[in-house]
Amino acid sequence: MNAILRPLVTALEELGLAEFLAGFSADSVDLADWARAVDLLDGELRTTAGFLLLGRPAKVDGLPTAVAAALPRLQEYGVALQRDNEAQLVDVSLFRAQGVWLFAEPPSIFQVRHYFGPDSLALARRISYRPDSRVLDLCAGPGFQGLIAAQLGARATLVELLDDVARVAALNAELNGVADRIEVLAGDLYAPLASDGRPFDRVVANIPFLPTPTPPGQEAAEQGGEDGFSVGRRVLEGLPRQLAPHGTAHLTALLFQAGDELLMAKELRDWAETHGCALAVSLTDEMAVDPGSDLVQTAVSDLLDADPGADAQALSSEVAEMFARRGATRARLSYLRIDHGVSGFRILDHTER
Ligand SMILES: C[S@@+](CC[C@H](N)C(=O)[O-])C[C@H]1O[C@@H](n2cnc3c(N)ncnc32)[C@H](O)[C@@H]1O
Repeated sequence: MNAILRPLVTALEELGLAEFLAGFSADSVDLADWARAVDLLDGELRTTAGFLLLGRPAKVDGLPTAVAAALPRLQEYGVALQRDNEAQLVDVSLFRAQGVWLFAEPPSIFQVRHYFGPDSLALARRISYRPDSRVLDLCAGPGFQGLIAAQLGARATLVELLDDVARVAALNAELNGVADRIEVLAGDLYAPLASDGRPFDRVVANIPFLPTPTPPGQEAAEQGGEDGFSVGRRVLEGLPRQLAPHGTAHLTALLFQAGDELLMAKELRDWAETHGCALAVSLTDEMAVDPGSDLVQTAVSDLLDADPGADAQALSSEVAEMFARRGATRARLSYLRIDHGVSGFRILDHTER
């Protein structure tokens, strides 16, 4: 099964692409950094890096043999196009992060479909996996969390809402030689899981948390809803049944504060007490929530994608008012750790150090 894609990885490593990528900060993946550095390369490495990292079109007969040989398989997975002697990747780049080769979209200020971001890296750094443990990666995107787990010997079930993105996760499993330890399911959170399945030792969920106003009853499954936690709340609802005794779960979240007070503290504490879990919240990067802030503007550009005719200024005020109504004065990128079978509630504020 891996007869085409494993030689691709070997060839990329021999060519020096892994070494090239290792020269950048392990904490970030940045298309602009790559673009500057690719232009200083020459020969096959420059062509291949331009093609795989930067999405440049390339002549098939100018690509390394293993890359050209992988093109039909990549077309089957929907990530490459080829006409005659011209080829190009579609939407994604192929890069390496924390030892995993990944077809995904590098971080961008625009909404992307095959997500990978700094939060993906930061979440993965917080989790340890044991060989043969059972892992559930919810909101898997192109599969980064589940791939890390599988590479450490765990067996991972990945659930992704969008069919084409789930297919890319399966491609990444094949590419990294861990397809035998990964199952990819397309669907909504826990819905595609077998009803009589065994619970998981680890549940990881890098949820979509961009807060966007949504009319009642029309919650967008792909976004965070008004307080950014609508998908997170549904993850928590199903968690006690799916997480093994002594298992741990890790979620990202964007949580709001009024001054120093965490607006969701009571809700999270109550959830933990009710379900016999310990919950630790790590508050990291701070974000402003005024109409000109990056957070509001990102939410607005997302709303404009859905309705290009809408008035951007009116939307900025609407989103900022939505935050103000809740009393929010800032938002915090947060990581939740949940331990099943023990109790406690803790907030760690990383900016207080
Ligand atoms: C922030 S990305 C996370 C990608 C990846 N897990 C990572 O850490 O890099 C969130 C992903 O969740 C998917 N998603 C959104 N709502 C979902 C749902 N209800 N069930 C499953 N996946 C969902 C989105 O399509 C997107 O690919």
